[in-house]
Amino acid sequence: MEKTEKYRLLERQVAALVEGETDTIAKMANLAAALHETFGFWWTGFYRVAGSDAELVEAAEPPSPRELVLGPFQGPVACMHIPYGKGVCGTAWKRNETVVVPDVEEFPGHIACSSASKSEIVVPVHGAAGEVVAVLDIDSDRLATFDEVDRVWLERIVTLL
Ligand code: SME
Repeated sequence: MEKTEKYRLLERQVAALVEGETDTIAKMANLAAALHETFGFWWTGFYRVAGSDAELVEAAEPPSPRELVLGPFQGPVACMHIPYGKGVCGTAWKRNETVVVPDVEEFPGHIACSSASKSEIVVPVHGAAGEVVAVLDIDSDRLATFDEVDRVWLERIVTLL
């Protein structure tokens, strides 16, 4: 099955899965699992902007709001904190746009959670006011896995969260 058709089916599956669900972490968890299973990526998951949710901001010791914290994911263990503007994830957050990296070795400041990761795409997830609340990070163990097709579909699919 070609990639576009896989994304089309996945979008329908995810829309059905998240329908009526209000817990963002639960939705992120199932979205990561659905993507990971469908495409067999190396690592598929979310990093959440620390302090972007009201409960955390009100907590007595909120984490620094200028970092990403590991969220629901599928795959090997990964780095838990990523500063604003650092690595591919922090860069996508700072630029507020999707970053496609065909070869991670060529990306200055890439954070290598695993040497098996060869290419990567990071897509911002927006809150109600348009602010970045999380990023979806997908890693492949092959070079140049991600292109415009992935960008367009993943940007669509994260709006289901
Ligand atoms: N490579 C990412 C870090 C996260 S892991 O790959 C799961 C980055 O440079 O932001």
